[in-house]
Formats: sequence, C-alpha cells, structure tokens
Amino acid sequence: MTICDIGVLDDYVSGAACQVKVLDRVLVVVRIEDDVYILDDRCSHEDFSLAEGEVNAETCEIECARHGAMFRLSDGAPTSFPATRPVAHYEVRTNDGRLEVSLP
Ligand code: FES
Repeated sequence: MTICDIGVLDDYVSGAACQVKVLDRVLVVVRIEDDVYILDDRCSHEDFSLAEGEVNAETCEIECARHGAMFRLSDGAPTSFPATRPVAHYEVRTNDGRLEVSLP
C-alpha cells in the first residue's frame, strides 16, 4: 500500500471532476462539498477518461462523456449501461489538512 499526497481540498472545485496523475496511475478526483472521491480515470466500458464527464452531486455519480454510463463515486460501481464492470475506487483521507490517497 502506498500513500500519496494529492493536495488540499481547496485545490478541487466542488461538483467537478479533475484528472490527477500519481505514480504510474491516472486518477479522477471528484470533490462534492467536503467529501472527496477517487476512481481510476478510465471508464470500464472502453478506454475513456471519466474526468471529461459530468458529476451529479445529488446522486454522487459521474457520467462517462463517451456513451453515458454512470458510476457511483463511493465505490466505482456502474449504475447504468453500457458499463457493466466497476471502476477501481481508492480510499482518501485527510492528514494535517492534506488529502492522501491509498494506492495498492
Ligand atoms: S466509454 Fe464510457 S460509456 Fe462507453
């Protein structure tokens, strides 16, 4: 397990998706108010960046901009077709005001 610093809460705009590169991974970071969610930045339907999609802050989902699949931000599970497989989800915590993601 590797812990990586990804900045502070105010680096991210609430309700927007942001691509972050950490080590050899490309992640999508989504802030909704004081909560932060992190998934792999790769739709499980085809290889497409979820960071280009729309965030639904009310349902806590992100929509792939390519074909419209929805994923739950809390665990990466698909909630609509055409995606049927989850996207990897990573735990994030706050340490001294810094956001840290745990990568396996
Ligand atoms: S590539 Fe994301 S829904 Fe098809």
